[in-house]
Amino acid sequence: MPNSNPLIIDGKVISEKVCDSLKPRIERLAEKGIVPGLAVVLVGDDPASKVYVGMKARAFEKMKLYSETIHLPKDTDRETVLNLIDDLNKNDKFHGILVQLPLPSHLDEMEVIMKINPDKDADGLHPLNLGKMILGVDGPLPCTPHGILMLLKYSDIDTSGKHCVVIGRSNIVGKPIANLLAQKSASGNATVTVCHSRTRDLQSIARQADILIAAIGRPEFVDHRFVREGAVIIDVGVNRVDDPTAKRGYRLVGDVNFDDVKDIVSAITPVPGGVGPMTISMLIANTVYLAEKPASN
Ligand code: GUN
Repeated sequence: MPNSNPLIIDGKVISEKVCDSLKPRIERLAEKGIVPGLAVVLVGDDPASKVYVGMKARAFEKMKLYSETIHLPKDTDRETVLNLIDDLNKNDKFHGILVQLPLPSHLDEMEVIMKINPDKDADGLHPLNLGKMILGVDGPLPCTPHGILMLLKYSDIDTSGKHCVVIGRSNIVGKPIANLLAQKSASGNATVTVCHSRTRDLQSIARQADILIAAIGRPEFVDHRFVREGAVIIDVGVNRVDDPTAKRGYRLVGDVNFDDVKDIVSAITPVPGGVGPMTISMLIANTVYLAEKPASN
């Protein structure tokens, strides 16, 4: 039976709940004279990255936390970027450092991420922290995957024993979320299948999912042919598509064709307003977590 009343998972509301839950910890830090601080490094003028960085700065301001964005021109050389990270590593104002991705192609993303002191890795993307994540050791988790776990938790969607199909194998989303969902933990215990551009018969695998996570970066790629009735859909995509009727000349769509699947699914995240706000609140959570660590005090 088609479900004409699916749960629309509201990332803005859940993100506010997460932020509210951090307030007592922020107050405890304030009693010790500590204001969690984040340095955001933006290289170049990618329009979407500029928007994300602006949203992060506003979210920190709203929580009365400290953040500074260091905006470098797109042709900034490797040494300058690495020296900047070095300086930020040594600067006590900053408990967290985030390098906005993607970087211009002449810079090696992995080299830059590896330069960040793992104790200041607000994105949880340093190999040491990803290693800890895989081993189930405490550390900062990548923000978007962590945000997805929170969306599921706050929506009372249990992952234990479920078949989760992840479409996409990026370092930022696909690989870590697949790993977290398979972990022996309250937010894991799922059976996970990772699909990607070389997967054969993607639609039939996706249709086996109890929870389908789309993180491929292709506008409205997932439609009803990929979705089993009653599935939960987490749409990680944020894609700009031309729309002459829109004020800015474009609109944002996810990797999922929302209208095509909404009557089949039991729950779905919208774009915008689903995963996006969670990425920001988990960045705040990571910065608070790093500020609490003895290494930074
Ligand atoms: N670009 C898109 N999403 C992200 C993210 O979560 N972290 C960073 N550093 N860059 C991004």
